[in-house]
Amino acid sequence: MEVLEILREASNRIYKNVKDLAGTNDAAGDFGVGAGGDISRNIDIVAEKTVLDYLKEINFECIVLGEECGRVELSKNPKGFVIMDAIDGSANAVRGVPFFCSSLAFATENKLSSITDGVITNLSNGEMYWASKNKGAFYNNKQIKVHKKDPIYKIVGINTSGSSIELMNKLHPIFENYNHTRHFGANALEMAMFARGLMDIFIDLRNKIRIQDIAAGYVIVKEAGGMLLDANLNPLDTDLSYETRVSFIAAANQEILDEIMSQI
Ligand code: IPD
Ligand code: CA
Ligand code: CA
Repeated sequence: MEVLEILREASNRIYKNVKDLAGTNDAAGDFGVGAGGDISRNIDIVAEKTVLDYLKEINFECIVLGEECGRVELSKNPKGFVIMDAIDGSANAVRGVPFFCSSLAFATENKLSSITDGVITNLSNGEMYWASKNKGAFYNNKQIKVHKKDPIYKIVGINTSGSSIELMNKLHPIFENYNHTRHFGANALEMAMFARGLMDIFIDLRNKIRIQDIAAGYVIVKEAGGMLLDANLNPLDTDLSYETRVSFIAAANQEILDEIMSQI
């Protein structure tokens, strides 16, 4: 079975197991602080267990890097890493805001740039985004590309949750000069929507994004033709460690990148 098919099946199983749980009291159950540093909620645990059970069932030889469960070695001879954010947008999922997803990626080495496959599933409706290196990015069965044309409304995704006053001051011209700034609360799904052409640029300069938040989005954005840069405007890459935190800019083209960067 191809890696992509494994990730797609795991995502479908998460969707089946959590779709009726989101927004219920049961979703919120507190399981203490997970490997990623946030409280693990019951819905996170149910979703992660779904993936781990499936990977064990098919004897997939890998190391899982889960946001809640941490590093789980499923084989002594792993083929690579499954980078798992089983629920991205946990706050939305717990409250029942219909914007949360699963994000699963496969990397052959301890590097973001070694990611070969990624799948992001919108868990509020089951819609799936996926990509494999050099094979394009897809939304359900349709190939997707970032928005290359001049848009009717310029939509600027910008994550400022928990930002310092210094960062808010730096970003202020963007808020002043652009009427359509957006932040929906699930980084992976926002990257997928950017890849589909629904936003022109998506910026997160907080230095808070974990590997699990970005892994699947990394390959989907790249395969959709998007630029993916770090805060110094170099191509984004890093190791897959639990300590790593990144800032990033996903831009549809050089023009929008230059335009927004000239503001800050
Ligand atoms: C969070 C979401 C959110 C982003 C946070 C992430 P989680 O992931 O992606 O949009 O602002 O930085 O931690 O905790 O819901 O998996
Ligand atoms: Ca996340
Ligand atoms: Ca999560």
